[in-house]
Amino acid sequence: MATKEQSKEMTRRQFLNTVGKLGGSVAVFSLMGTMGLLTPQTLKAAEFTPPGRNDLQLSGRTGQKIIILGAGIAGLTAAYELGLAGYDCTLLEAKGHAGGRCWTIRKGTAASEIGTGLQIARFDNDPGLYFNAGPMRIPQFHVTMEYCRTLGVAIEPFNNVNESGYYYNENAGPLSGQRVPKRAAKADMRGYVAEMLAKAVDQKALDLPLGPEEKAKLVEYLRAEGDLSPDLFYKGSSRGGYKTEPASRLDAGVRRDPFDLKSIVNSGFGNYFSNEYSYDQQMLMFHPVGGMDAIVKAFEKHVGDRIKYRTEVQEIRQSASGVRVVYKDLATKQEHEIAGDYCICTIPLSVLKKIPADFSPDMAKAINSTRYASAGKIGLQFKRRFWEEDEHLYGGSSLTNMDITQIYYPSNDYFSKKGILLGYYAYGGIADKLGGMSYQEREKLALTQGAKIHPQYMKEFDASFSIDWKRVPYQEGGWVSYSADDRQTFYKTLCKPDNRIYLAGEHISYITAWQAGAMESARVVVSDLHQRVMQA
Ligand code: ALA
Repeated sequence: MATKEQSKEMTRRQFLNTVGKLGGSVAVFSLMGTMGLLTPQTLKAAEFTPPGRNDLQLSGRTGQKIIILGAGIAGLTAAYELGLAGYDCTLLEAKGHAGGRCWTIRKGTAASEIGTGLQIARFDNDPGLYFNAGPMRIPQFHVTMEYCRTLGVAIEPFNNVNESGYYYNENAGPLSGQRVPKRAAKADMRGYVAEMLAKAVDQKALDLPLGPEEKAKLVEYLRAEGDLSPDLFYKGSSRGGYKTEPASRLDAGVRRDPFDLKSIVNSGFGNYFSNEYSYDQQMLMFHPVGGMDAIVKAFEKHVGDRIKYRTEVQEIRQSASGVRVVYKDLATKQEHEIAGDYCICTIPLSVLKKIPADFSPDMAKAINSTRYASAGKIGLQFKRRFWEEDEHLYGGSSLTNMDITQIYYPSNDYFSKKGILLGYYAYGGIADKLGGMSYQEREKLALTQGAKIHPQYMKEFDASFSIDWKRVPYQEGGWVSYSADDRQTFYKTLCKPDNRIYLAGEHISYITAWQAGAMESARVVVSDLHQRVMQA
């Protein structure tokens, strides 16, 4: 049984975490003050350290030096929050840029994949011509939005769902090889399913715990849901669109004919619907204006002077009294050492497992047990926004069972001349297959398959840039992938501090594959660390 003091501490922690989620670090730290967790000196630091000015004499007030490994979103968040509380942070970042997987590709971006070699983005020099190789969308309820607000990052809607996009499947019955507007597939599938259910309820074929009036209400709902005729048949719906659009005067337009039930069932299009209303993919979504790395640049304004770029971690050591990290300066090839009181390690576990480190056997085993998902993307610059000009398609996606999996149309700079499409976004085995190709082969596949949906592809194509996240140095994976069993076993070890080392990143969260997971995990580490320092 927990002692009274332990219970009190648990409640405090839970409370602080909750406040942290809702109100941000400032709320946590000022709350710590009111709860008597801060010394007057630290409280002063917490109150008076201006964001980004942790170079002021306030740093070191706590007397604690924190080494942060990785300047991705988790590392940046930790440094920013700790900076507000007056800690002295140093970030070691192996790449020449911060942000980790939050990476925006523009003209001149040069990067080498492991085994694929150097690639340079030959996009035009235009602020609207970019694509986000990693995170590209933000749900409204993620803490990412709060950081955008606090850091002054301008945002705009990301059109995750657009009924004007297409479904296109091969080997899927009579509709194989036919691009079908999403609105048409949805109207028909939903119409037929509503018809079947409405008839079954109406004819009392189902044993439902509903009285006659309630059944009538259910039928009424299904009629509206499927746009059914009064005799409960689905006979097509304007929701699916028109062969000829309604226009002026006597021109009522010509509604499209519905597909037959057999065709629409065989198409498999129905399997795409649910993703659009999964919790974290629901409209409305957002993205920063000009590229997701606007978030990185905003963090860098505050903590950029704390980052040692192009420094590759060689060893992570710890004792009862501190931590020591050996790193290689990639510019000079010289090895250096840095010492601190605590370490926040945000290195993806796919990379961390290869670095010699003083982790406990349990932690080392947990790190080694973790698997990462494969993911790959390609950006395709076109000379003309044919999807807007010819097809009235502004943002959103088209989905397919071809290897390209999905195409996303840009949710920025509408009506401008050129545009960059996300030509594929693949996961798992398909991503591995694409990742195993040369950059030219990936481009060819993206164009050949994409041209089946948009015949304009070949004529309008300009330039491409592709990513296979398993091959990106210092990342080696799209995002962490836990089974339900992993969560109950080794995941719990990853969440606990290992002596003086704390792990943070999307992999230490239940919001994996999102920047919010990295941010939330960093915040909770900052909060825990601060309490530990105050109580030491
Ligand atoms: N969060 C990632 C996405 O939205 C996986 O695609």
